[in-house]
Amino acid sequence: MPKLHKRHDKSDIFIHWFNAACWILLLLTGVGLIQHPAIDPFGSGYPEGLRSLVGGGANLLAIHEGLGLIWIAGFVFYLLINFRGARFFLAEIFAVSPARDMGWMLKKMVLMTLGPKALKAVGMDPELPDQGYYNMGQKAFAQASVVGGIVIAVTGVIMYLSDRSFGAEATVLVSWSIALHFIAVGLVFAGLLVHVYMAAISPEERPGFKSMFTGVVPDDYAKHHHRLWWNKVKTEGE
Ligand code: HEM
Repeated sequence: MPKLHKRHDKSDIFIHWFNAACWILLLLTGVGLIQHPAIDPFGSGYPEGLRSLVGGGANLLAIHEGLGLIWIAGFVFYLLINFRGARFFLAEIFAVSPARDMGWMLKKMVLMTLGPKALKAVGMDPELPDQGYYNMGQKAFAQASVVGGIVIAVTGVIMYLSDRSFGAEATVLVSWSIALHFIAVGLVFAGLLVHVYMAAISPEERPGFKSMFTGVVPDDYAKHHHRLWWNKVKTEGE
């Protein structure tokens, strides 16, 4: 039986999959709310079809808003039950060591596209610098999803309130909220495509994918992919 290391708490696993489910539903309903011939991502058939499925645009908006409020409530609930976990996560993702992490990012991108020969050709060692609990790619996406998530939630609440209690004086605030809501969703979504590929499809990350269900990773995976974390676990314990 290989040695295993605890990587995620049950509440971390819950909030990750809860967040992923909310994102999928919010994207599906949000894209359906866009009904403009110049920017419909899937053509006009999708928003029309979705609206008729739920009984009209007003219902679709109410569903999107309801999902958004459930999404925010889920995070409040998580913070209440595992504030320490959230603090650990934030400290890890925002701890960037410029030389080590930028070197990792640059080499990883070259390795994934051109291969090790390209690095050797310019006199660089293809070995990746050691990484901690998260590698720099995971940290970059996590930073974008935290900052983007906050922008999406705050601007979403402003838009929700604008239909109910704001007057004409809030027009500028609401217009900026609409623009920022779209930009933040677009940026996080771009990162999400890479995240899903790296986390769920890339075979070398398979133990990391399984850990999002079991909470644990094998010793050799931790040693190879997250050496600085592995060293810490060895010296300080789990
Ligand atoms: C449904 C598709 C998704 C899959 C298959 C997936 C898969 C995973 C896996 C396997 C991990 C664990 C990585 C590790 O600890 O070794 C992870 C972590 C994480 N996921 Fe996802 N995820 C999905 C959706 C999302 C969404 C929608 C977000 C946020 C917008 C997100 C944000 C994160 C973050 C911040 C982490 C921690 C940092 C990282 O590993 O990148 N995930 N995900």
